[in-house]
Amino acid sequence: MPRQLFVTTALPYANAGFHIGHMMEYIQADIWVRYQRMQGVAIDFVCADDTHGAPIMIAAEKAGQTPQQFVADIAAGRKQYLDGFHISFDNWHSTDGPENHELARQIYRDLRDNPDGSLIEIRTIAQFFDPEKNMFLPDRFIKGECPKCHAKDQYGDNCEVCGAVYAPTDLIHPYSALSGATPVLKDSEHYFFKLSDARCVDFLAKWTQDGKLQLEVANKVKEWFSVRTNPDGTQSEGLGDWDISRDAPYFGIEIPDAPGKYFYVWLDAPIGYLASLKNLLGKRGLDYDAYMANPELEQYHFIGKDIVTFHTLFWPATLFFSGRKTPDNIFVHGFLTVNNGEKMSKSRGTGLDPLKYLKLGMNPEWLRYYLAAKLSARNEDIDFNAHDFMARVNSDLIGKYINIASRAAGFLTKRFEGRLGEVPEDGAALLHQLRQQSDSIEVLYAARECAKALRETMLLADQVNAYVDTNKPWDLAKQTGMDARLQGVCTVCIKAFRVLTCYLKPVLPELARQVEQFLNIAPLSFANVREPLPARHVIGTYQHLMQRVTPEQLDALFESKQTVATVEQAQVAPKTGSKPAPAGMPSNADVPGGEALAPTIGIQDFAKIDLRIAKIMHCEAVEDSTKLLRLTLDVGEKDETGQPRLRNVLSGIASAYRPEELVGKLTVMVANLAPRKMKFGISEGMVLAANHADEATAPGIYLLNPWPGAQPGMRVH
Ligand code: MSP
Ligand code: ZN
Repeated sequence: MPRQLFVTTALPYANAGFHIGHMMEYIQADIWVRYQRMQGVAIDFVCADDTHGAPIMIAAEKAGQTPQQFVADIAAGRKQYLDGFHISFDNWHSTDGPENHELARQIYRDLRDNPDGSLIEIRTIAQFFDPEKNMFLPDRFIKGECPKCHAKDQYGDNCEVCGAVYAPTDLIHPYSALSGATPVLKDSEHYFFKLSDARCVDFLAKWTQDGKLQLEVANKVKEWFSVRTNPDGTQSEGLGDWDISRDAPYFGIEIPDAPGKYFYVWLDAPIGYLASLKNLLGKRGLDYDAYMANPELEQYHFIGKDIVTFHTLFWPATLFFSGRKTPDNIFVHGFLTVNNGEKMSKSRGTGLDPLKYLKLGMNPEWLRYYLAAKLSARNEDIDFNAHDFMARVNSDLIGKYINIASRAAGFLTKRFEGRLGEVPEDGAALLHQLRQQSDSIEVLYAARECAKALRETMLLADQVNAYVDTNKPWDLAKQTGMDARLQGVCTVCIKAFRVLTCYLKPVLPELARQVEQFLNIAPLSFANVREPLPARHVIGTYQHLMQRVTPEQLDALFESKQTVATVEQAQVAPKTGSKPAPAGMPSNADVPGGEALAPTIGIQDFAKIDLRIAKIMHCEAVEDSTKLLRLTLDVGEKDETGQPRLRNVLSGIASAYRPEELVGKLTVMVANLAPRKMKFGISEGMVLAANHADEATAPGIYLLNPWPGAQPGMRVH
């Protein structure tokens, strides 16, 4: 029997489109789900809109809509993000659907009627009432100082600074966020989930500390339910009862036998996981109860670190004491920040709008690859950095992986009708090694260690590229009598590319599909990639699989920085041929490198240009510039005191190289170019690099690199 998994991501509030943090969560979960599916595991992967609660009710009112219309409009916008980034949910539903109303009410009844004693208690509490608005104030609309850490302007239900969960009445100096008025206390009957009940405390102490949760999560959770003596001698309360009701008017689910009372949104939101699953099974004509009764069923929730308490305390207790299956694990991730740590605020968002990314024609798999290259199983924050993004995609994904196919496929098609040949001995050893890594890469994916899985895969790609460099198929192609060798070397490359594609498939599903088509093979899995391709297999024609990220795209994505692109364009060495040929003129396609030769000069003109060998001593990204790298060059000069004099050169090669890969390398620079003041500092010269005038014809920038033996300071004649 294959494993049966039920997997969710957190249900996003239905009050806005997705931001890049949401997409990160979906991508992380989707990679894991796709990996499991490749292993033959049966998975139902679902999500839904979290529709209820006062903030959405108030937002709908402001928009002049009913809450139902309001959330329906939001729901209609979800598909473009999910399809756009290849998120493979099996179902998208709503917490306002009939399944959720029914399930929430039934779960509540089961808690209330628990045979060992009810877990629900009704108490009259004094609750904040806005005397100007004439309504009980929802938690989110009461603000004040956190009772635990004293952070100012915290919401009434939990503190965003220290994570404490409390009642609004615990806030110090409360005020109404709707009117600004100081709220008054007014009595009201509320329904409580008795989390402080000894049964709950015992259950949660075990459930959260039995080793399944991430260690840092388990440790954090411990603080919330243990009664303990603080360093200052005061007693911490431990787990308090949980207020699960709200008074009308409220957009939510009515509590059975309690007119005018509604479930607090966080009671019915996670039940929405089950509701979405039930909805999916209904569409398939399957029975929800039978599905849930399967003792082998595994249930996992991917969430962010801000909603851990809800998922590790309230949610398992709700399920367990209503006689239901509890999750097998909660996978907690950190927060995504953009371009250096600026925390994404739910209202302000960030510069990185996922829809804009797609509309600019940027490849969704670039983002999947980039985020995967940073994601681990820990709940640490990760940063989207524009430089790093471009470097990882262009130099790793394309430079190392895609290049393998583009280097080998052409020869096979042109010279051997696409037919694979015999694998030479040295190639067989390489392929064996590649296949051997499969086990460890599988373990890493299963453990959500995406970054490590990709790192291992890229190290393998390095080995394949070294094999290509050693065997130089482009040289073999020119020699006579070397056909078999050429076909053999290219065969190794294609077979290696197939294995690497399998290892990348959970992250790059669409690319993998294209590769499967190009290689003319069945869908790749970790099981079938261990089997070699049949002898004399014929591959299809190679078509360019992936474009490079350009600085212009990133500049457009982070709009406010658009000015930077224009400034840089003016300052990076002028490209004569880069303009498209005017209408009626012959295109530049048939001139070398895409641009016509410059007018003839005499040797004395050339002699004016002093070219020197330069050693790259240091190299770094330039903050706020997606194009430039700052190079510190040694051209053998000394200052008056005899100390080495180093040159600072800004060069527009950031799209092609990562700073660390350039350090220590030799290159050629124009050493007598007048220093230029640029926006990012003075540039004392120019390094030489080659590029095709038309990026689309032949992408990439290639820095000049002298043969071994050249020394810094030598003149280039
Ligand atoms: N509606 C609740 C969840 C209910 S689950 C039964 C909620 N919604 S949310 O829209 O605010 O967040 C949805 C998910 O996105 C959460 O897991 C949250 O942690 C995650 N993220 C929100 N901002 C994020 C980042 N900046 N980075 C990564 N994940 C982020 O909470
Ligand atoms: Zn606090």
